[in-house]
Amino acid sequence: MLSEKSKLRFAVIGCGFWSQFQIAAWHELEGVELVAVYNRSVEKACDTALKFGVPHYYDKIEELFRNEQLDFVDIITDVDTHAQFINMALEHNVAVICQKPLTADFKTAETLVAKAIKRNIPFFVHENFRWQLPIRKLKIAIDSGVIGNVFKARVSFCSAFPVFDNQPFLATLDQFILTDIGSHIFDIVRYLFGDAENIYCKTKTVNKKIKGEDVANAFLEMQNGIHCYAEMSYASILEKEVFPQTLVLVEGEQGSIELAPGFELKITTRHGSTSSVIQPEMYNWVDPDYAVVHSCIVDINRNFRDALLNGYDAETSAADNLKTLQLVFAAYQSAAEGKAISVNTNFVYEH
Ligand SMILES: NC(=O)c1ccc[n+]([C@@H]2O[C@H](COP(=O)([O-])OP(=O)(O)OC[C@H]3O[C@@H](n4cnc5c(N)ncnc54)[C@H](O)[C@@H]3O)[C@@H](O)[C@H]2O)c1
Repeated sequence: MLSEKSKLRFAVIGCGFWSQFQIAAWHELEGVELVAVYNRSVEKACDTALKFGVPHYYDKIEELFRNEQLDFVDIITDVDTHAQFINMALEHNVAVICQKPLTADFKTAETLVAKAIKRNIPFFVHENFRWQLPIRKLKIAIDSGVIGNVFKARVSFCSAFPVFDNQPFLATLDQFILTDIGSHIFDIVRYLFGDAENIYCKTKTVNKKIKGEDVANAFLEMQNGIHCYAEMSYASILEKEVFPQTLVLVEGEQGSIELAPGFELKITTRHGSTSSVIQPEMYNWVDPDYAVVHSCIVDINRNFRDALLNGYDAETSAADNLKTLQLVFAAYQSAAEGKAISVNTNFVYEH
């Protein structure tokens, strides 16, 4: 048990749909204390504070920073507001956790990362998909060498789930699936197979009621030579609706590993196949239909807490996430220009 003194004090910025799961997940961990919530509409801030027993709530961001002694903020607002709140936290020397996608454009993210590094302030991105238990177990299986050298993979997030019911703002975005889901899927690709050399992508808008693209198919050549397909769609009416599961097929010189519907991990070699089911943790606040994305919030939050308490970088630091974000915007560039885009760059933080 951590002493009261070593507890990290934090505030949540944005009290919408996703914040309710994120706050519940923070409550699973010792060593952190949610001291305030902020939202532009005071009703939502007040409701969230009451629901989770948070002592203070605000609808003026300046008052939050003036009144509270914070170790970090957890930003869970719409993407176009992330930069303003990150900037404000950095100005107040407060560490930042920000929801994916980090910012609405790449340059802004790069500038913010540079600012945080210059000021030596921890800056992390809540990119939770790589923390899903089935994805962690898949990585362990790949790294065990059971299928030998990997040469090819497919990472797939295709569904007809009515995502706009819970998150209506998504229908209004000029850029939709690559920023919203692509940021997750490209991060899983990087987690499993390292960084990319180049990316080629095509997009479509199948649902004519939304502004942005709802289908994106990308082909990535990884720096280690692996060929990787990353496909995502909200227009796929399939026999098995697996939302919000990510399906993966990895092919190696000695066999293949498949993360199949129902969290089934199948390993096939010339000697036959084995199968196991990886069930996510069922906390009492998770929606059983979405347990795989809800329960992993506890794991990523634990990584953030430990990083902040021990002074090391979180796995999904903002500096690391720049490489994921770069893939998102390179995919749009590829779709617009009809050619592969090189992404093998080292970032220089000289802003
Ligand atoms: N990691 C995941 O699996 C996952 C899942 C869903 C959403 N998200 C992310 O969470 C973030 C929020 O999404 P959501 O679905 O909760 O949206 P939402 O619209 O339900 O909630 C956003 C909240 O932020 C508030 N807000 C927006 N602008 C504000 C401002 N300028 N000042 C104060 N408050 C403001 C809104 O009033 C709202 O309460 C997005 O970045 C989204 O991509 C992540």
